[in-house]
Parts: sequence; C-alpha cells; structure tokens
Amino acid sequence: MTEDRTVVLAARGVGKRFGETTALAGVSLEVRAGEVLGLVGANGAGKSTLTKILSGTEAPTSGHVEVRGRRVRLASAEQAREAGIETVHQDVDAALVPDASVAENLVLPLLVAGRLGRFPSRRRIRAEAARIAADRLPGVDLDAAVEDLGVSDRQRVLIARGLATAPSVLVLDEPTAALSVDEQRALHATVRELAAQGTAVVFITHHLGETVAVCDRVVALRDGAVAGEFAAPLDAKRLAHAILGGLEATAQRSEVATGGEVVLDVAGAQALPGGPAIELVVRRGEVLGITGLLGSGKTELLEQLAGVRPVLAGTISIDGVPFRPAHPVDAIAAGVGFVPEDRARAAELPGWSVADSLTLPDLARYRRGPLLSRRAEDRATADLIRALGVVCSGPRAAIESLSGGNRQKVVVGRWFAAGSRLLILDEPFRGVDIGARADIARLVRGAEAAATVVASSDPEEILEVADRVLVMADGGIVGEVDPRTVDAETLADLMTRAARPQETA
Ligand SMILES: Nc1ncnc2c1ncn2[C@@H]1O[C@H](COP(=O)(O)OP(=O)(O)OP(=O)(O)O)[C@@H](O)[C@H]1O
Ligand SMILES: [Mg+2]
Repeated sequence: MTEDRTVVLAARGVGKRFGETTALAGVSLEVRAGEVLGLVGANGAGKSTLTKILSGTEAPTSGHVEVRGRRVRLASAEQAREAGIETVHQDVDAALVPDASVAENLVLPLLVAGRLGRFPSRRRIRAEAARIAADRLPGVDLDAAVEDLGVSDRQRVLIARGLATAPSVLVLDEPTAALSVDEQRALHATVRELAAQGTAVVFITHHLGETVAVCDRVVALRDGAVAGEFAAPLDAKRLAHAILGGLEATAQRSEVATGGEVVLDVAGAQALPGGPAIELVVRRGEVLGITGLLGSGKTELLEQLAGVRPVLAGTISIDGVPFRPAHPVDAIAAGVGFVPEDRARAAELPGWSVADSLTLPDLARYRRGPLLSRRAEDRATADLIRALGVVCSGPRAAIESLSGGNRQKVVVGRWFAAGSRLLILDEPFRGVDIGARADIARLVRGAEAAATVVASSDPEEILEVADRVLVMADGGIVGEVDPRTVDAETLADLMTRAARPQETA
C-alpha cells in the first residue's frame, strides 16, 4: 500500500563517527509522502544522530542524503527547511532561546529565513506568533519567557513551531516524552492528519504502544545499523525483539510488595494552594506510584517532600520524626533522594563527567583526607554504569556526549549509590529505552532499604514499577488502583476523566 508513494527523503549508506564512537554505520532508509515512519532503537542506537543528519545539523562522515531522488548536501537547518524538512529535536532546550518570549521563539525560523523582513515590528512578530499558536497552544502565554514554562509547554511550543512552516517532511524526535496522555493523544491525531494530507512524518518514541498506534512502517536501529524493518500491522513484541536484539525487555512483576515499617507519613498536606488534604503512607521496600495529567499536582507534592518548594500545609514525618524541609539540603540530610522532573535544567551539570554526576550526592564516601579518591569514585561509577547499562566511553566521559536516555539513567542512578531512606522520583523513565526502563524499574523495586515515591504520567510505566498507584487530579487524590488488576488503557481513561474538562482541552 505504501509502496507506490513518492520517496521524499532518503538516507543512503549514512555513517557517522564521533572520535572513537561510531554512531551510525551505513544506514539506508526511505521516507515516503503520506506515511508515518517510526524510528525505534535503544538509547544510543543512533536515532537522534540520523535525525540531525536528515535535518542538516550534522554532516555524515560517509554516505549521503537524497531529497526527492536528488542527492543533496544539507549544510544547515535552514537549507533543510528550504528543502521542506522540519525537525523537532529531542533536546528541547537547545532548540529554544530561554530568555526570549514564547512569541519570539515561535517565529524564530521565519526570522532567520528573513521571511518577516529585516526589522519586523513587535506587533508583526506577535501577530505571526498568534497565527502559529492558533489552537495548538491553549493555555500558553505568548508573552511569557520560554524559560518560565514547564517542560511539557516547552515541548508543545517546539512542536507548534515545527508545524508552522507546513513542511513536506516532519521529523519528530521523542516529541511525546514530556507530554501527558491527553496531549500525546492530541499529537497522534495531528500526525495522522498531516500524513493524510501527504506529509511524510518520521516519529521517534520509546513507547512501542505509540509506535504501533501511529506508524505505518517502522525501522529499528541497533548499534548504529538497521536491525529490522516492519510494516503495519505492527507488533510491539517483534519491535522490542529487534530493538534489544533478543534480550528480555519486560520487567513483568510477579508480586506486589506490602512493605515493612512506615517510612513516610503525610497528613493533611496540600499539593496546590487551597487544594484538598492529602494523606499518604509509604512503607520500607514499597513503591508508591502517583499518576495524573499535567496540572494534577504530582510535581508540586513531590517537590514539597524534597524541600524544593515550601510545605503548604499539614505534617510530614520520616521514620516517625517530624520533617519540614526548608531547603533541598534539609531533605538530603534526612536521607531523601530526589530526581526532579526537569532533569536537564535541575540535575545535570555541564562539563561534568559521568563519574562526577553519579557520585554527586555522596562525595563524602569517596573522600580520602582532603582529596577525593578518583580511583574509588571511578570503581563505584564503573559498577553503576554496568548495573544501569549506561552506554558511554567510560566514567570520565563528559555527560554531554551521552545520548538523551543514557543521561537520564545517570541522573536516576546516582541516588541508588547514595543509599537513601526515601527516594522521590519524578518522571524517571522519560526518554529511557524499553530495556533501560526495565533496568531502572528493577533497581527501584529492588531498593528494599528505602521507601519510594514515583510519579509518572505514563500509565504503562507506573503500572510496571509501582506496588500501589494513586491517581491525582486538581491537587487531590481521586483514586487508587492495584497494578495487578488494571491495564494501561483503563488507567489512562481514569486519569483523563478525573481531570476537569478545561484542563484536558
Ligand atoms: N556530539 C557527540 N559526541 C560524542 N558522541 C556522541 C555525540 N552525539 C552522539 N554521540 C554518541 O553517538 C551514539 C548515538 O547517539 P544518539 O544520540 O544518536 O542516540 P539515540 O538513539 O538518539 O539515543 P536516545 O534514545 O538515548 O536519545 C551514542 O553512543 C552517543 O553517545
Ligand atoms: Mg535520541
């Protein structure tokens, strides 16, 4: 069915090396008008690198790119855009100007291309931005600085900008990683609509359920090479097999932990100002899952427990001792490990190595006299790299040289090394591949000395990792489900229905 469609974009034997690393080893693929091509692969498989080559931001070290059958050299994003190729990159923050307004960010490609004239007035920019935002960015203030938006809104700004030029090829590199289920569903509908109008779409995601739902065809990459090609009807199991090369992907749990003594006790807390009272208890060895749409108050609640924002109401105790952190350091001192939602901004230190990043909360352990023992640190890091399956050139690799998902594993992994009493993880699976997701889930579930609170807006993920799942909406807990008896689709519906209509719009 897709065979007779025009090939609008193709990679022919594309290779890419970064020093010692071979990111791509001779990849060939074709993207056809009117189809959604899924690109899947483990963290570090080369998906983003291929995306960058197709969008002119990286040059291949071998092979070439063809646009509508003609060999081209795309030397910049602008040249790719001229050829009708628009890309929404995985690294959202690198693609936005943080202190510029949403409106300015939306018109950036038009400005660069000189399409708004040499010195467009603020009114012109505002009007053009309003046209681009139209009905795609409800609830986003065009005059706000982009840096003041949450991760999900930043992602939505980038997607709206990508759609604005009505490209003939749209490449989306993990566009849904930071979106909640209702926003994901809306994007899926948009993508199918675009394909129906003849746009070629490349769609990258680690959620195979999404791949199966939106893609016509899928190419799986493994270690920089094509490991399989699949046409609809797609089968998630076969995709997983191609991605992991036959390794077991699922962390299917047999039992649910009921836990030991109470570690965390929250009484009468408020996630949002003036919101309903929240009561919860988490026991040692237990993993409490919290889910809900964006704006439900998950992050606000977690951040209060971690000392990142002031406790609004009620009492909290850890191991029976009253706990009211005024600062993240208070929480760390009380044995609370916290992985924030906005990791790139809050938890990654540019220029640091993998070893530095992993041992950050626990420096005292590696001190010998006044100096840090590099060898002890490297040894511990090497163990963690192995346990988490982090793809990198070694403990001293710069954090920026890792693929998105591998950076994620490092930030989550550090707290396991620190031996925390209470682990608080906000969206720990964002951007990690199916194998790593199982690895992290196993790690979280195996943290028997700690009580764990995990927030995720992805129903599949939360059911995989948690012993109990609380559903939040409008700052309150509106339900509790047992992961053994509820499936992802049912939970997604529950989350959407629990939220007030204006928040799901
Ligand atoms: N600028 C760079 N310098 C050095 N190595 C790099 C650079 N960019 C990518 N790599 C390496 O190339 C390989 C492929 O990375 P890429 O980002 O394409 O993976 P990916 O499939 O997009 O992974 P993820 O699912 O984690 O986003 C990885 O081993 C990565 O560490
Ligand atoms: Mg990537």
